[in-house]
Amino acid sequence: MTLPPPARARPAFTPPHGLRLLPGWFAPGAQRALIDAVCAIEAQAPFYQPAMPRTGAPLSVTMTNCGPLGWVTDKDRGYRYERAHPLTGQPWPPMPDALLALWEAVSGWPQPPQACLINFYRAGSRMGLHVDADEDARDAPVVSVSLGDPARFRMGGPQRSDPTGSLKLASGDVVVLAGPARRCFHGVDRIYPGQSQLLPEAWRPGRINLTLRRVN
Ligand code: SIN
Ligand code: MN
Repeated sequence: MTLPPPARARPAFTPPHGLRLLPGWFAPGAQRALIDAVCAIEAQAPFYQPAMPRTGAPLSVTMTNCGPLGWVTDKDRGYRYERAHPLTGQPWPPMPDALLALWEAVSGWPQPPQACLINFYRAGSRMGLHVDADEDARDAPVVSVSLGDPARFRMGGPQRSDPTGSLKLASGDVVVLAGPARRCFHGVDRIYPGQSQLLPEAWRPGRINLTLRRVN
């Protein structure tokens, strides 16, 4: 009997240096205070539908920002940072103190964050593998906060084709991408709808992710 050749083993995923998960960093009361702050921000700077550069295909999340700069994308001008909301033309609302304190506690970066991107995931939303690469301050860490329904977060390496691994992020968890992890592909496979009551009813099921970045 001839045996088939052994299947080529899939290369193992090794989490990149600089990836840190801080589970439950925000206790339930602090999560509620953060969501109240996000609601106040959204009342001034409503979620809008971002689109992919060139194709104009809609992203599956809606977005807004707070802080001096906001990350935006549209068909004609692509990925970039702007000082004002694309629909209202108004400056982004200020960043809540709790987020500035988080950055100071976990980033190890001497200057404050300049942008907080607020991603809103509905039941079917996801985010494809990407690298955060629109910042001149590419050595400054990225710090992100999960609120509401859990999500499956996927982490890879510096090449899109590198092996990946995943972890489930719960409400209140914080992820830090620093050092080599800052330049690694990552994304969100899915959310687990209906597991959290944190978000206001009109936003459920749903997940909010707050991504803090230094831009320049
Ligand atoms: C992102 O990388 O832009 C979002 C990550 C997340 O939603 O957890
Ligand atoms: Mn990202």
